[in-house]
Amino acid sequence: MKLTILGGGGFRVPLVYGALLGDRAEGRVTDVVLHDLDAGRLSAVARVLAEQAAGVPGAPAVTATTDLDEALRGADFVFSAIRVGGLEGRAADERVALDQGVLGQETVGAGGIAYGLRTVPVAVDIARRVARLAPDAWVINFTNPAGLVTEAMSRHLGNRVIGICDSPVGLGRRIARVLGVSNPREAWIDYVGLNHLGWVRGLRVAGRDELPRLLADPDLLGSFEEGKLFGTEWLRSLGAIPNEYLHYYYFNREAVRAYQDAEKTRGAFLRDQQAGFYEAMKRPDAEALETWDSTRAEREATYMSENRDAAGAGERDADDLSGGYEKVALALMRAIARDERTTLILNVRNQGTLSVLDTDAVIEVPCLVDANGAHPVTVDPLPDHATGLVCAVKAVEREVLAAAESGSRTTAVKAFALHPLVDSVNVARRLVEGYTAEHPGLAYLK
Ligand code: G6P
Ligand code: MN
Repeated sequence: MKLTILGGGGFRVPLVYGALLGDRAEGRVTDVVLHDLDAGRLSAVARVLAEQAAGVPGAPAVTATTDLDEALRGADFVFSAIRVGGLEGRAADERVALDQGVLGQETVGAGGIAYGLRTVPVAVDIARRVARLAPDAWVINFTNPAGLVTEAMSRHLGNRVIGICDSPVGLGRRIARVLGVSNPREAWIDYVGLNHLGWVRGLRVAGRDELPRLLADPDLLGSFEEGKLFGTEWLRSLGAIPNEYLHYYYFNREAVRAYQDAEKTRGAFLRDQQAGFYEAMKRPDAEALETWDSTRAEREATYMSENRDAAGAGERDADDLSGGYEKVALALMRAIARDERTTLILNVRNQGTLSVLDTDAVIEVPCLVDANGAHPVTVDPLPDHATGLVCAVKAVEREVLAAAESGSRTTAVKAFALHPLVDSVNVARRLVEGYTAEHPGLAYLK
């Protein structure tokens, strides 16, 4: 079983490899091919993987290449976790938006649109190559903005591309934990929306919805990440638990201010932190795994810290530090490769699940997964305010896809202007000016 990882020199690859090392079952991944544009990053990550594999019998063999077509040929699974423009690009996405007084987060609002505009053409090229060189492969997309990028790829790969994100899984796990559900697998999480824009409306254990019990108990509700971030009163008003990324919508003004006041934005912090890691890996005597692990721990501890500061939410719970992104990826691969049926929250084509969206719109929803792929389950409709946001953001995503296809600057302006978190058409125009001046990857917009 061959797994190709695009963005193979990326910082989170050791998480995925670590999960593979723990998989002893028949039919597991035996060969990992790392692909990256940057040979230096590949060798840094390969060093970490080699230390992880030391002493593990049957550890998957690792090879690395900068040749994309070679990496794709013969792949059974392709993980795509690329970052077009690097972390420098992420920092620029934030800066340009904040200069205009709007949010520059990598997946939400103006920053997400800018990141999408430069990522979609690259993702489409990858999808076309997969369709040609590895037509039977399953593509698991981690590349953010994950919903939009998955939809772009699905136009060439159909249902063979599946998008993943760990934030709904983390959310479900936290709710199950505070409700005292010992095995989160026993809980059915009623969640739906778009990537980074979804809501938990219920959590059923043995057929009984336990969410009302949580919403009715302020102490319980205030005891976990989303309760602290959104405040118990707002969660009770909503009657649902939103994905943590909804904080950028419901508390937009505070989030923008916290980002503006921060010494460094998230992208700038990670850019500098990771530069330190990759630099250290050039030293022949570097302790690769140890250095990687302490860098990872620092990254996880500071995740969404501006939002938590703005909300007065304090430190993250130790139990929440590890997102579990690699676990979702492995569970998905196992379910498909071995027909080990399971339920996972994934980004797939709507296919009638949300009646307000068309059939090809990629949404985030619990899916039954088996050897034939991921099948969205039937869910209750969203309440009106959530439907409004989902439709507005999907319309923006469609403008991004149209701009990426046509190269139209006017369409790019429309994408920014229609986003609920961009408050003026003039701001949208200035964003397009600012982003095209920053990013060579947006030179195609005419
Ligand atoms: C969450 C999100 C991912 C994101 C990750 C890392 O898990 O769901 O989409 O990539 O956080 O965020 P960071 O700010 O550390 O890059
Ligand atoms: Mn995500």
